[in-house]
Amino acid sequence: MEELFAQNPFVVGKYLSDKYFCDRSEETAFLRKQMENGRNVALISPRRIGKSGLIQHLFNQPDVKERYHTFFVDIYATTSLNELVYVLGKEIYKQLKPKATAWKEKFFQTIASLRLGAKLDPMSGLPTLDLGLGDIQAPQTTLDEIFTYLNEADKPCIVAIDEFQQIGEYAEKNIEALLRTKIQQCRMAQFIFSGSKRHVMSMMFNSPAKPFYQSAVSMGLKPIPVSIYTDFAVRLFSDNDKRIEPEVVATVWRQYEGYTWFVQMMMNELYALTPAGMTCSAEQIPTATYNIIMTQEISYRELLSNLPPRQKTVLQAIAKEGSARNITSQKFVKKYNLGSASSVQSAVKLLLKSELVTQTDGVWRVYDFFFSQWLATMY
Ligand SMILES: Nc1ncnc2c1ncn2[C@@H]1O[C@H](COP(=O)(O)OP(=O)(O)OP(=O)(O)O)[C@@H](O)[C@H]1O
Ligand SMILES: [Mg+2]
Repeated sequence: MEELFAQNPFVVGKYLSDKYFCDRSEETAFLRKQMENGRNVALISPRRIGKSGLIQHLFNQPDVKERYHTFFVDIYATTSLNELVYVLGKEIYKQLKPKATAWKEKFFQTIASLRLGAKLDPMSGLPTLDLGLGDIQAPQTTLDEIFTYLNEADKPCIVAIDEFQQIGEYAEKNIEALLRTKIQQCRMAQFIFSGSKRHVMSMMFNSPAKPFYQSAVSMGLKPIPVSIYTDFAVRLFSDNDKRIEPEVVATVWRQYEGYTWFVQMMMNELYALTPAGMTCSAEQIPTATYNIIMTQEISYRELLSNLPPRQKTVLQAIAKEGSARNITSQKFVKKYNLGSASSVQSAVKLLLKSELVTQTDGVWRVYDFFFSQWLATMY
């Protein structure tokens, strides 16, 4: 296969190949082992650490590609069983389309309710699945058919359902129980459920009253260790006739607490700022930060303008602190003119719900580091 080439080796927002992906070898091996042993996995970690990337990395391994059919659906934007079935059906068809197997030929035969969407591509003359959400009339029937189809597969399947906690928000009740039953009966597929809402995910998988109780091995994901990430970044610079001082990488890593997305964004910009043959030094860090923040400023302003005044002030107070403790204390309330402890409490509850802030062990921070820096310095 032709090797995928990146203009900037610090790839953000998509998975390209091993070459641009830092480590995660133990995590990949762990996932592989669970799959080989017929266990489902619940992958839980804070946002932007690299859950989706890890799953894609696993799916990209030659042995995994050889041994399994792999399917990846992100259900973050879905709100009903109908939509879940829609994305699942589309993904299965998309993955199988380039393959010439007898199993693929049975797709519309088994999943008869999707036959409506079977069209011939006017350009290529080849069959495609042109499905609208409205084409799914009875989602439970289609779901049954999809699982029947998976069970007829010619090799084992791995189905990754990203942002799995979302099913808790579906309009219909009992979706968890329904899915659990289907998944349990499915011999040919293993599942990876990933999600960032730790509390919701933990409840789903570790609470005896819930359908998914003990139906998956829980797996957390930590930041990539600083030394490993530093080696990776230094290598990507030098592969492209540039240099970076290792200490610069470590500084960036620490500044963003190892949260992969933010670190990668910074390295991408630092790489762009470094001419060929030159060395990137710590002096570039403020410029890189500023450049990134400026590209996001419009959306920050938009976000802020939609926020009620009280939440806005609390958000800015937390940003100014960086890591804020005791936010309902008199000292904090007074320092930032926040009215009362109870109004801080109600504002912060809403900010937490909309994922603008996070809280661990009593420490609050604005979830998006760049937004936080912008709020603290420019607003
Ligand atoms: N091991 C890695 N090496 C290099 N880049 C990575 C690695 N893991 C993740 N990334 C990059 O970091 C970004 C965040 O990763 P990813 O989207 O996988 O996180 P996530 O945990 O799924 O986040 P979210 O909860 O927001 O969906 C991605 O844009 C990806 O390109
Ligand atoms: Mg993700």
